[in-house]
Amino acid sequence: MVQIDWYAWHRLYDRPKSKRAARLSQMQDLILRALDEQQGTPVNVLSVCAGQARELLGAVERFSRPQDVHAHLIELDPRNMEYAERALRDAGIGGVRTTVGDAGLRSHYEGIAPLDVLLLCGVFGNLTPQDIERTIALARAIVRPGGIVIWTRHRNEPDCVPQIESWFASHGFTGIHSGDRADPVAIAAHRLTGDGVPLPAEERVFTFIVGVAA
Ligand SMILES: C[S@@+](CC[C@H](N)C(=O)[O-])C[C@H]1O[C@@H](n2cnc3c(N)ncnc32)[C@H](O)[C@@H]1O
Repeated sequence: MVQIDWYAWHRLYDRPKSKRAARLSQMQDLILRALDEQQGTPVNVLSVCAGQARELLGAVERFSRPQDVHAHLIELDPRNMEYAERALRDAGIGGVRTTVGDAGLRSHYEGIAPLDVLLLCGVFGNLTPQDIERTIALARAIVRPGGIVIWTRHRNEPDCVPQIESWFASHGFTGIHSGDRADPVAIAAHRLTGDGVPLPAEERVFTFIVGVAA
């Protein structure tokens, strides 16, 4: 099994000209747009497999009312969680709730709805296609109608991005940003335009597998 040091993985974000840094900047812009359109208070955000939450951090730092943002982060690596929590608090965020654990478990999502913004960044590339669809079904259960999911997925062959878009559509979402189709990584956003649904019944929603065969 491939092992990755997920704390060290984030260091590439610090190289200004790297592809990873460019990807980060695009995610931050998209998240900022999603925050900007929120009228209510608080703005409830959940980041699944949050890592160091750098994508959310860069948006919160530029958002006009960071104190209104309440974030819940689910992340397996306690070092990343410590980094994320400290950085978000330093940025003046209204609240941070942290769950160090396996984000693939349904129980973490009980009572979490309704979310204004759900971040699934750096997740789908590590899930089987079946688990991607199950995660999209979960998204429908926890995002408020009108709320936004921001997600990423590499376009390595076989490119699963069109299939992901079609799953979002079949689960009540409408695409609002698909980015440049020539980019090696899709950074996209969908809005829940259908009705919400209850949480899925099964406790295991997804299994995060590094190097999963798509
Ligand atoms: C590709 S990184 C993405 C981090 C961040 N969302 C980003 O885009 O910069 C994946 C993250 O998922 C975390 N992770 C791996 N398996 C997990 C699991 N089962 N539950 C929660 N987090 C997990 C890793 O520790 C890592 O920080």
